[in-house]
Formats: sequence, structure tokens, C-alpha cells
Amino acid sequence: MNAMFDDWGDTPVATPKTTGGGELPPPAAAHLDGEAAPRPSELRPPNLAPIRAEDKRIVNGHTDINQLAPFKYPWAWEFFLKANRNHWTPTEINMAQDVQDYHHRLNPAERHMFENVLAYLTTSDILAMRNIGLAVMEKMTAPELQIYQARQVYEEALHTWTYQHCIETLNLDQEDIYNRYRVVPAIYGKIALANRRLEKVLCSGLDLTHRETLHEFALSYFFFAGIFEGCWFYNGFSPIFALQRRGLMKGTAEQFQYIMRDEVLHCAFGLRVVRELLQEEKIAFDPAAVAEMWQEAEAAEEAYARYILRDSILGYSADLHIGQFRFVANRRARQMSLAEPFPGAKAELPWLDEQANLRKEKNFFETRVNEYQTGGTLAWE
Ligand SMILES: [Fe+2]
Ligand SMILES: [Fe+2]
Repeated sequence: MNAMFDDWGDTPVATPKTTGGGELPPPAAAHLDGEAAPRPSELRPPNLAPIRAEDKRIVNGHTDINQLAPFKYPWAWEFFLKANRNHWTPTEINMAQDVQDYHHRLNPAERHMFENVLAYLTTSDILAMRNIGLAVMEKMTAPELQIYQARQVYEEALHTWTYQHCIETLNLDQEDIYNRYRVVPAIYGKIALANRRLEKVLCSGLDLTHRETLHEFALSYFFFAGIFEGCWFYNGFSPIFALQRRGLMKGTAEQFQYIMRDEVLHCAFGLRVVRELLQEEKIAFDPAAVAEMWQEAEAAEEAYARYILRDSILGYSADLHIGQFRFVANRRARQMSLAEPFPGAKAELPWLDEQANLRKEKNFFETRVNEYQTGGTLAWE
């Protein structure tokens, strides 16, 4: 495993501190009728107390949201810096051979899998972008958290661009691909489950001082980072990597390797935020609620795998996919110090880490490695 991504999301959580102080004063009273309002150049800042890092909070904070430092969560700033070293765009990857592969080398079962993976991912990444931008980011009360999440919003949009680029390059029927989740129950099931779990907190004005609401928000963010990104996305590219191992659809697979590297960070960041949130707010997940969440996620993933891999392809099957989901799910639970939901699950895809290692396929970035530092090895936490 490469040191670049080691320990992301696994660093011990700092001891929570108490809040207080650092608030902005109330706005100045409105001027009386007939009295000229002070011009901006005449305004003098009040003597505000300096912000103390220990007063910051994940949510429910009262420190100035427009002042970046001092950091209470320096790891969040490091995530932002690391994310920017991952920069890439889909047009930089050579897709010429993929056009040949898709139309002349894939068999019907492989094309069925490929198209439906793409159909699921396109819808999922829009949902991811909206969730982090509209449901999560606005609830944060420390700017260093929002800064990384702003980058994440962009990356989710970049991922959507990537799928669209693949669809256009391969000359797939856009209407068919984008509407597929509406007509295929196994794809719709995952999207519907995510919508149900995420939309509960997709509104401003949520009172997070209310304990049940806060629990709902934390569980929703855990679902998003740990399952939606950390299991479904993380595991979602594997069928394409199975093609890549056989020399098929290598351009698409390389695109997905870059997306997966982003998702690794998204998952690690989200889990870190949720862990610290639980500590700061002194709440714990309801085990029954967590167990229900895992069961739902597994059922949806199994239905999806049985559909996209209704006919096994060489080197890959629905059983392998589901087994790997369970294995990754256990890892996410351990990252949150929760009980493993699927005891005994084994790594079904021992080739995954090596296959997804970007250094093996580093071709288009040869001239850009120094500029973007994109040549790092992937790690799959
Ligand atoms: Fe994404
Ligand atoms: Fe993501």
C-alpha cells in the first residue's frame, strides 16, 4: 500500500472540546429615518475576540464561518490539498481502443454489464454531488470542512462529465442509458434507497440541536460516505476492472481508476467527519438502525449484481461482486468502530488493489506527473 493514502480516515479522533465565545456580534442597529447610513469606507470593525480553534464545531458551532484558521480540523485542510494533487479530466485519456472493444470485442453479456454499470453510475454521481453540496455542506460550521466538500462537489461533477464522455465516445444511446434507472428495477432500487436515506436531511433549517434529528443526519452522512461511496462506488468499478484485466475497455477502466481514487478520499473524509461529530455531540448510533441500513444496502446491491451479471463474464460473477461488497462493508464498519455486519466475509477480488494501481497504466500523464502529481499508487481503504 502506498504511503500517500495510508491512514486516511483512520487517524485517532481528537478529544472534543467545549464551545463558546468567538461569535460575531449582532448586526448594527438600522439607522434612523433621515439619517445617512455610514458608507462602507467609514465602517470600523468592532474589536472582536480572536477565534479559538477549540470553539469550532462540526455542526451547531457559532464561530465565524468565513474565517479559515486557526484550524480545529487540520486534517480536513490536508484532504483538500491532497484532492487537488489528484486533478485530471476525462478528455486526457485515450479512448480509441475502447470504441473498437465495445463494438467488436465485447460479447452481449459484457455489453449488458458495461452499459448498466454506466447507467447506474451516471445517476449516482449526480445524486452524490447534490447530497454533499445541498444536504451536507451547509450543515457544517467549520470552514475547513466546507472547503474540502466544495472540492468534492466539483469532483462529483467531474465524474458525471467522465461518464458522459464515455457515453459520447462510444456512441451509446444517451436516452437509453440515462433513462435506464427508471425502467430497470435493480438499478432503480439502489437509487431509490439512496434517495430515501439522503433526502431526509436535504433541507436547510434542520434543527441539529435536536438529538433525534442530529442522529438522523449523522446516520445519513454515514450511509453516504460509508455505503454509497465507500461500498457501492468503491466496489462498483470492479466489473469494469475485470474487463481491463483481459485487455478490454482499458480507457474506460483508467477513467474509473481516477474516479475511484477520488472516492477513496471522499469516503475517508466523510467517515472522519461522522466519527468526530459523534464524539463532539456525545451521541452513538442506534445499533438496530445501523443493522437495518446494512441489510437494506446488501439487498439492493445483491439485486443489482444479479441483474448486471445475470450471465457471468470471464473472471467475474454476481457472487464475487456480492462477496466483495460484504468484505468492504466490514472494513467500513471497523473504521467507525462498529460491529462487522458480515462476519467472515472474504476478499473475493484479490487482484483489485494491483489491478487498480495507476502506475501500471500511467501513459497519458507522462508529461503531467510533475505538474499534477498524478502518478501515485492507489490504496484501497
Ligand atoms: Fe463521484
Ligand atoms: Fe464521491
